[in-house]
Amino acid sequence: MTLLSGAAKEFYFGKQRKLPWLKLKFINLFGKSVGRLLPATAHDYLKMQKRAYETAASAARVRPGAVVGDIVAASDWKLHNEYPDYESFILKFVPKDASWIALEYGCGPGRNIENWTKRFKRIDGVDISSRNLENARIFLSSILAPEKQPKLFLTSGQGVGDAPRDAYDFAFSVICLQHICVHSVRFSILKDLFATLKPGGRLAFQMAFSAGELANTVPYGTDFVSAGVTNGMCDVRVESATQIEADLKAIGFTNLETMVRSVPQEMSGVFKQWIFVNAQKPAGTGLVSKVNSNR
Ligand SMILES: C[S@@+](CC[C@H](N)C(=O)[O-])C[C@H]1O[C@@H](n2cnc3c(N)ncnc32)[C@H](O)[C@@H]1O
Repeated sequence: MTLLSGAAKEFYFGKQRKLPWLKLKFINLFGKSVGRLLPATAHDYLKMQKRAYETAASAARVRPGAVVGDIVAASDWKLHNEYPDYESFILKFVPKDASWIALEYGCGPGRNIENWTKRFKRIDGVDISSRNLENARIFLSSILAPEKQPKLFLTSGQGVGDAPRDAYDFAFSVICLQHICVHSVRFSILKDLFATLKPGGRLAFQMAFSAGELANTVPYGTDFVSAGVTNGMCDVRVESATQIEADLKAIGFTNLETMVRSVPQEMSGVFKQWIFVNAQKPAGTGLVSKVNSNR
């Protein structure tokens, strides 16, 4: 017989700090009930996201080389770090000689920056939560060589913040964009990622896929600014690869490739499938001046 619910077990035995954990439960309860009824704009949505991720990030105990009790990044770091589809589809075009500089959108406490450090000259990170960036800085400080320490950029949630333009060989994002259920915000992020890439630079990202309806998700084109909750509690479902392709083409990306794959339930919660996307900024484009950046 189970005496404790999953949430109660997590509370008693989880390694995270309890106050932020409780605060997040309250924020989510409020967002799902009252918050959802209030009029909202994209700005309100991003404020809600920031509040949720700042709170979640403050639950972890972080020291150089260790993040204990994390509730922001992947629920099981080892499982995600070893998942072969990331290598096959996110790193598909990345050369083996660690010659590229990369930028991760939604880097959290730096799980991917650490895991893929051998594949890059350096990986920088962007995140909506300053606490996440601080956690990443502390965590990676003792692990990475000085020349590999990431430059970390805070964003308002719809662009790459002060990350340089025309600078990166590669931009990527995993288990982040699927949590942003406002199409106009994601479009703005993709435009900024285009701007931050060098001509010829490559973009790769993952989102969640479901051709049919799915609880706690909205269809791709929706601007669900009154979601009230985030990070798995209200996500977006890609229903067809053409939806993403249309956005990427409108921004100016070429060489688009998409791949829908089954994903283990332990990695993805409600979604049974993910979609991996690769695209390229054409060499010799008019660059930043052509992109209307909305940061
Ligand atoms: C589930 S975590 C994944 C972290 C990391 N990508 C990984 O794979 O471990 C989602 C991350 O995206 C960030 N994030 C969510 N919405 C964002 C937005 N609108 N702009 C920038 N970062 C965002 C969160 O703060 C969080 O760090």
